[in-house]
Amino acid sequence: MRIHRLPSSLASQIAAGEVIERPASVVKELVENSLDAGARHIEIRVEKGGVKRIQVRDDGHGIHPEDLPLALSRYATSKISTLEDLASVRSLGFRGEALPSIVAVSDLRLISRQDGGHAWCIDGQDGKPYPVSHPPGTCVEVRDLFYNMPPRRRFLRRERTEFLHLEATVRRLALSRHDVAFVLHHNGRLVHRFPAESREKRIARLLGHALMEQAIRVERQGETMGLAGWISPPVYSRSQRDMQYFFVNGRAVRDKTLHHAVRHAYRDVLFRGRHPALVLYLELPPQEVDMNAHPSKLEVRFRKADEVRRFVAESLEEALSGTSPGKGPPPRLAPEVREPGDTYALASQAAMPPLGYALAQLHGIYILAENAEGLVLVDMHAAHERIIYERMKAAWERGEVAPKTLAVPVAVDVSEGEAQRVEEEASRLRRLGLDLTRIGPETVLVRGAPAWLEEEAVPHLVRDVLADLIHADHSSRIEEQWHALLASRACRHAVRARRHLSLGEMNALLREMEATERSSQCNHGRPTWTQVSLQDLDRFFRRGR
Ligand SMILES: Nc1ncnc2c1ncn2[C@@H]1O[C@H](COP(=O)(O)OP(=O)(O)OP(=O)(O)O)[C@@H](O)[C@H]1O
Ligand SMILES: [Mg+2]
Repeated sequence: MRIHRLPSSLASQIAAGEVIERPASVVKELVENSLDAGARHIEIRVEKGGVKRIQVRDDGHGIHPEDLPLALSRYATSKISTLEDLASVRSLGFRGEALPSIVAVSDLRLISRQDGGHAWCIDGQDGKPYPVSHPPGTCVEVRDLFYNMPPRRRFLRRERTEFLHLEATVRRLALSRHDVAFVLHHNGRLVHRFPAESREKRIARLLGHALMEQAIRVERQGETMGLAGWISPPVYSRSQRDMQYFFVNGRAVRDKTLHHAVRHAYRDVLFRGRHPALVLYLELPPQEVDMNAHPSKLEVRFRKADEVRRFVAESLEEALSGTSPGKGPPPRLAPEVREPGDTYALASQAAMPPLGYALAQLHGIYILAENAEGLVLVDMHAAHERIIYERMKAAWERGEVAPKTLAVPVAVDVSEGEAQRVEEEASRLRRLGLDLTRIGPETVLVRGAPAWLEEEAVPHLVRDVLADLIHADHSSRIEEQWHALLASRACRHAVRARRHLSLGEMNALLREMEATERSSQCNHGRPTWTQVSLQDLDRFFRRGR
């Protein structure tokens, strides 16, 4: 094919795809425009997860009637004029792309009224403003997202999933501006109503009061940078990174530098695979950060990333220094695993079980056993952990985890969204071994839990499972998370190092290892046993046979 120009409508659809990925992106762009316009009150109404209709209405300063057609055209903005402006941008928008992008992929209508003026309306398709009646501020209505792009539309998920994305976006925006009131309706039902309030109250409302009661405050002012926010103590860790919110100069971002800083700060107070909850606000001179790294502005580039990482990590370490470290299994050197290869068996020992019989316990850590090939060394904690894990997993797979009724039901504080999930997913939760009832806006009552779980661990598990449910679309993901949870439980139930075992107990453990699948590695991937053959020993002692 020869080169030809794409029709302009197709070109703008392609470009729009970079900014507008799903209903949540529309909400993000519209609300950011409202915030840039100085709105104090923003009302979001969506239908069918936002695919059918999204309406965002604000009480901001509005758009001059003569500028309305410009507002919908590409590269038209009131926010910057020069390259210098771009370098020091303070507003959320600056590319002049959001509204035209939405126009390219939906049916859009915008009404705006400035103080003292009249309200005017403009349709995305024909672009000629006409007078209407409307209070001061701006209202944008977006219908039938991607109606003209069937491939994109097919990529949209179920209504519920799209709404979850959209709601998560609203939560991030609400966390970024606690001084602005937000209202969110879905299918005519009120989902959130946040009045303008203090930052602390807003965070507690969104992340749950239970977290905020334990959270550690972070506040540090450097020469050029400042960091404020709240982080969870290590005991309040989560199985997901779902409760980590970063804001850079008021904008919600996803950023590796900041994640690294967090991981570093928590490195020896948290188990691997566990994540803290946190909300952090970083302020730095706009020249130090490039917000224009990506059309969605979710990624940023720091001019001095190392400096930012160090500053954030140090701030968190300082805040955490008051807490005592959690006790994980101490890191051990993994011995080299040997294949029991060309070894010889003595005829008299042919009937011996693969791992042989226990001889002794070494320093309360290793079991020494004799088998046909020679010497067997077993890390007893790691091996036991694996056995318990596999046993629990098997029980779960057989659907045998009926909740065991607790002697005293436990009330657990969760976030509002999680409590709602409990109502909707009660039967699924029962299959996971949890009998939960919502008894308040942010409280659920646990009546039953898996029998193998100690009661003190119940609130923790409930929070983890709810977080998983909210974030997982597929049950396989829940299963994965469930396995991870089982693994950490197994670790806690396994025999501790230094516990004295009798020969009988050691032999029982060896037999169980033989009967358990995948028992050659523990849950952290370390080997649980190794073989030192007679040949190895002969070689060592230079003993010819
Ligand atoms: N809710 C609103 N209130 C007042 N003015 C608005 C509102 N929404 C849009 N505008 C005006 O329309 C212009 C275009 O909006 P648009 O979102 O397309 O671009 P932008 O915000 O300047 O940049 P970006 O593409 O980065 O969002 C804005 O610069 C602003 O002047
Ligand atoms: Mg914008």
